[in-house]
Amino acid sequence: MSVNPAPLNRVREYERERATRLPADERPLFHLTPLVGWMNDPNGFCYYKGQYHLFYQYHPFSRQWGPMHWGHAVTNDLLHWTYQPCALAPDTQADAGGCFSGSAVEMPDGQLLLAYTGVQPAGTFRRETQAQCVAIGDGIDFEKSLLNPVIRHAHLPEGYSEFDFRDPKIWREDDGYAMVVANRHSQRQGSILLMKSRDGLDWHFVGEIDASCDEYGRMWECPDFFELDGMHVLLVSPQEMYAREEFHAGYGTVCIVGTFDEKNCQFDRQTVQPVDYGLTFYAPQTMKAPDGRRIMIGWMDNWETCKEAPRRHPWYAQMSAPRELYIRNNRLCQRPVREMENLWKDTIQHNQVTVHEEMSLPGVQGRLMDMEIVLNGQDSACRRFTLHVAKDENHYIQIRCDLARNELIFDRSHGGSRRDIAHTRHVKAGLKDGKMTLRLLMDKESIELFVNDGEQVLTSLIPTPISADHITFAADAPVRMSVKAHHLG
Ligand code: FRU
Repeated sequence: MSVNPAPLNRVREYERERATRLPADERPLFHLTPLVGWMNDPNGFCYYKGQYHLFYQYHPFSRQWGPMHWGHAVTNDLLHWTYQPCALAPDTQADAGGCFSGSAVEMPDGQLLLAYTGVQPAGTFRRETQAQCVAIGDGIDFEKSLLNPVIRHAHLPEGYSEFDFRDPKIWREDDGYAMVVANRHSQRQGSILLMKSRDGLDWHFVGEIDASCDEYGRMWECPDFFELDGMHVLLVSPQEMYAREEFHAGYGTVCIVGTFDEKNCQFDRQTVQPVDYGLTFYAPQTMKAPDGRRIMIGWMDNWETCKEAPRRHPWYAQMSAPRELYIRNNRLCQRPVREMENLWKDTIQHNQVTVHEEMSLPGVQGRLMDMEIVLNGQDSACRRFTLHVAKDENHYIQIRCDLARNELIFDRSHGGSRRDIAHTRHVKAGLKDGKMTLRLLMDKESIELFVNDGEQVLTSLIPTPISADHITFAADAPVRMSVKAHHLG
């Protein structure tokens, strides 16, 4: 428990009282939503004492961002979530301005250590500052260290910021702990620092792993750094990025695949790509499952679009589906976790159907679906294939494959939004050896589209009325496709 248990107890009391009044069936089937109020980044994603734990940035008292708490949920299969009481509240001097994002790791003695950013409120002459804190507990109740903040601005060489210094991602090493944490350097802008400690309390600066140099945004938030398939992967979420290469302007996600020379703290970039090309995905965090899989969950939202998004439920925001990561040709690829199969019920299969005029397929309809389309473009004059989902007389979400230009367009402009915000995204993708695969996860108010076995992923919330559930296919010239649609339940 915290030194002053009153604020956390108040939140837990509020949660207990509200939880009984919330309609469960309005929630998505398998995407995590906050128990009540607001949610942003995934935090503390880990496997601890036989369960997956996911904490989240949380403001229980409204559906807008506010003083940050850590919400908490557990799951056995990454798809069915059970809420736990709020884990952290901003209730000490070190975090009075909020418990910002962070991570979790099991300690050698079996306790769970949370590393998070404590925000110290602005004083008369100062802006609010950020530093790193720890809390240790049994997976439900956590005691904040009296030494907090355990990593301060004074730990860093000159040039690093005390105002933009956040989001520690911690892991265990043979002789202690390591973390990456984000900062904003006076020259190099967003930068990711490596810190080490023997006991989790006494930390020292090791080096800088990479920096934006304003190429990929100003501040870099929510770093993650891990080995995958023989490479090292750095994930960051930039703020205020210029559009360039495959990246759109604003808040985005960046994956840098490279090699890491640990001795010299030297990270060499091989490839740079967006983690997700959709409209609503930010601040992803990964964990290593007991079976060795690297699993990632992101906030299924974006700081730009969330301001204008409707608040239809007593909670706001969702996490993405959990995804397994792998590297192919030095690029990050993703597929939904294999546990998804446990949600499959009625499976409808249509093999080698010829599509031309807009058509639907018997049994392929709904808003809860895991659907795979394999387009067979060989020996076809087809240059444009169009898929409409969440469709009724007035609405549709369009996924258009412009095969001639090697471009896929996701467009939710007719999806029911009343707001003039971004509704379309373009991504370079097309036929590979004559084929293109599109796997769509639809969970009521969201779509996650995995293109060509997860080489690209586009994630988007859709505001479309839930009754709009038709799906149609069309092509500008006859083309064959196979569709396997698993209804989910
Ligand atoms: C990213 C972020 C983090 C911060 C948290 C605050 O979405 O801005 O950098 O820790 O959200 O809620």
